[in-house]
Amino acid sequence: MDFKVADLSLAEFGRKEIRLAEHEMPGLMAVRREYAAAKPLRGAKIMGSLHMTVQTAVLIETLVELGADVRWVSCNIFSTQDHAAAAVVVGPNGTPDNPQGVPVFAWKGETLEEYWWCTEQALSWPDGSPPNMLLDDGGDATLMVHKGAEYEEAGAVPTPSEDDSEEWKVFLNTLRRTIAERPGRWAETVKAIKGVTEETTTGVHRLYEMAKNNTLRFPAINVNDSVTKSKFDNKYGCRHSVIDGLNRATDVLIGGKVAVVCGYGDVGKGCAEALRGQGARVIVTEIDPICALQAAMDGYQVTTLEDVVETADIFITATGNRDVIRADHMERMKHQAIVANIGHFDNEIDMAGLARIPGVEKVEIKPQVHEWRFPDGHSIIVLAEGRLMNLGCATGHPSFVMSNSFTNQVIAQIELFTKTDQYPVGVYTLPKHLDEKVARLHLDALGVKLTKLTKEQAEYIGVDVEGPYKPDHYRY
Ligand code: NAI
Repeated sequence: MDFKVADLSLAEFGRKEIRLAEHEMPGLMAVRREYAAAKPLRGAKIMGSLHMTVQTAVLIETLVELGADVRWVSCNIFSTQDHAAAAVVVGPNGTPDNPQGVPVFAWKGETLEEYWWCTEQALSWPDGSPPNMLLDDGGDATLMVHKGAEYEEAGAVPTPSEDDSEEWKVFLNTLRRTIAERPGRWAETVKAIKGVTEETTTGVHRLYEMAKNNTLRFPAINVNDSVTKSKFDNKYGCRHSVIDGLNRATDVLIGGKVAVVCGYGDVGKGCAEALRGQGARVIVTEIDPICALQAAMDGYQVTTLEDVVETADIFITATGNRDVIRADHMERMKHQAIVANIGHFDNEIDMAGLARIPGVEKVEIKPQVHEWRFPDGHSIIVLAEGRLMNLGCATGHPSFVMSNSFTNQVIAQIELFTKTDQYPVGVYTLPKHLDEKVARLHLDALGVKLTKLTKEQAEYIGVDVEGPYKPDHYRY
């Protein structure tokens, strides 16, 4: 079996944590039981690009139990939990000397070159054949196969310009190499792929853009906008893991501090609530009047970054947008202000601009925690080099909330793989009855007792006794 992880001897520790996580992931375990005999993913060759954590290990092993052949990478250079990666490679029945699990190409602290190399490895089976399904988080695997095919057809990979980001330059160079090594490879890959299921807001934006420009080449299910994903993982997951990231990175007392949350979408809402829960005075920045009004009604001061950049103690970006905190902002921050991003990509904070400030000095406190000293002697602390801090500095979201997200993922994979003909190229969300099913699978574990509609009540509000209980336009 081909694979590349940090250290297979960590597998036993990883397996113990996977065992505990399984108990906290009732949705995934129920799906395993439901489909144990039918094995609806038999014949599926799934390439997954999603943070290689303990929770993801439970997802991977669920896909395998449903019959899939799987290869995996992390979708971020810092988010892999090396013990989880090792345990997945070794598998439940293997040993480090005789690994029998799933090929994983991921370790914590990859370089950009290694990141794209890993993605490329997972996109090709040992016999050279491509996957027939993608499971993506942020859209990098989808991007690689689309751009690869596009450049093959164009006959050349564009030469990166001086202004391109380091990321993009490395990406283009990887594509150039892979096309030179095996011409036609990416065209073959996009043709073989029946569809992709996408995990996060940023990846979903990319998919809708591609659909709009007619460049999307296979159908996609937007898992993020299942209610039981974005209204849970993005919000309650970040409510947990933003504090975990801050604590493990800095252990600074949050109570009494002024914390700025940029963006009051699902992620921002969770972060703001968590910081307030710790006793911080939370300030929100927004560009959308609806979200700004929500923040105000939730009791937060809403203002611009310019207004508070010199006085706040903690800055968290949660926008999925670029250049939210610029280098000139960071220069003006107070001594030892903490700057972190929880959005998917690292362009929310202008790290390249920070590095270009004349005389600025970067001091590593520990991996993923850096003090940036300005020439006047004051400094700021940047977490995870501007990449998503909850996975870079801590272990991301806990199992229970990820069980909701990943149950949607598994259902979406089954939908696309088994009903391919019903999904012409386009972007879809799962039907509401499946969303409700995912929620239902998580109620017992929390001791929730649902009220049952009477037939008369159901008729009165115009729904079926068994659901769905809300129209598609309902916003929760
Ligand atoms: P969202 O679209 O619900 O919220 C983003 C908010 O940022 C919007 O309300 C938007 O109006 C606002 N915004 C955009 N530009 C802004 C600017 N310049 N200044 C202030 N506000 C601005 O998206 P969601 O679901 O909250 O996701 C945000 C990011 O977090 C995405 O990149 C997503 O992929 C990522 N994500 C990260 C997770 C993690 O574990 N780290 C988990 C889930 C999502």
